[in-house]
Amino acid sequence: VTALAPLGQQMAPYACQRRTPLLHSNQPLTEALETLAEEAGFSGSEGRSLAFTRAASVLKALPGQLSALEELGPLPGIGEHSRRVIQDVLEDGVSVEVERVKLSERYRTMKLFTKIFGVGVRTASRWYQEGIRTLVDLQERNTKLTRQQQAGLQHYEDLNTPVERGEAESIGRMVQEAVQRFLPGASVTLAGGFRRGKPRGHDVDLLLTHPEAGREAGLLSRVVSWLDSQGLILYQHSQENSFALHEGPEPPGGRDVLDRFERCFSIFRLEVQGRPGAARGWKAVRVDLVVAPVGQFPFALLGWTGSRHFERELRRFAGHERKMVLNSHTLYDTRLNLFLPAASEEEIFQHLGLEYVPPTQRNA
Ligand code: CTP
Ligand code: MN
Ligand code: MN
Ligand code: MN
Repeated sequence: VTALAPLGQQMAPYACQRRTPLLHSNQPLTEALETLAEEAGFSGSEGRSLAFTRAASVLKALPGQLSALEELGPLPGIGEHSRRVIQDVLEDGVSVEVERVKLSERYRTMKLFTKIFGVGVRTASRWYQEGIRTLVDLQERNTKLTRQQQAGLQHYEDLNTPVERGEAESIGRMVQEAVQRFLPGASVTLAGGFRRGKPRGHDVDLLLTHPEAGREAGLLSRVVSWLDSQGLILYQHSQENSFALHEGPEPPGGRDVLDRFERCFSIFRLEVQGRPGAARGWKAVRVDLVVAPVGQFPFALLGWTGSRHFERELRRFAGHERKMVLNSHTLYDTRLNLFLPAASEEEIFQHLGLEYVPPTQRNA
């Protein structure tokens, strides 16, 4: 008897309309789909990559474990190819296509290279085409590397060892302490995956602000210089704020992923105790520091909490359903021709006419 309502019956079409917890019941399926999404990204097929990511995201929001494809019902956002992969994993435990991808030389090499800090798909792809296959190849062939990539290669192992929550919190305290030195009253907020409840992550995302607008200007360079002088920074690359409100909003679908806050991409030297077998008492950790004026802080917090797919969906929803432009600085209503200010993330969801989704449910 198939009297059971399809698991996906009540599923809303946009990920920002759904609650997506960190832990869900369909891990083997989402892993398979995300491998294909990653592989499509490596081949430059952004559309295909997004389709697999969307399908995986839908499965993450299902209330239970899927045992047959039919239980999905006519779900939005799961295409034919994804359905085939799901069916294969449900029936055989694995998808032959996914297993083949995971074993392919190109996928493995692209993964190896893109795990270097500062190396994106384009650079990795070029190296692959030049016949480079290993990190040793890279060094032996004297491949031209940016300063960032050199640091990434030098700390490759540490930077690909997950950052534990405790480590993220202690880096947060280090930064807080430095911030207090130069601007008492300024705050440091842990964003990114840790704010979504992840127990470990690939980096530490910290947002700095001060309750009085304008006071935060110049803070970051002082904080970074001081940390550097204490020997706590192994690499840093800072960028000035390039956001000007009078320019108006970025056009929808433009460069809306990157924001323009004053920021610092860095590698910290974190003291760690009792690492068995470790020759040294420290570990290299990737840290992103971002400064937001208080008026933009809720937008920055929302933008830097992720997940990436949740953010992409929020912006797509804002544009398509509300004719609004959302980024990490502002929300702009193109029908009313005005900016919609917000003092909290909750208010941003309200402006968008969305039910509030707490950070731990944004793991889309
Ligand atoms: N982000 C951004 N601009 C960047 C880099 C990141 O707006 N140049 C945002 C992303 O959209 C994401 C958040 O910052 O929402 C965190 O990104 P990231 O650290 O890459 O991912 P996490 O979700 O924190 O996961 P991880 O544990 O892998 O760090
Ligand atoms: Mn296909
Ligand atoms: Mn992060
Ligand atoms: Mn980050």
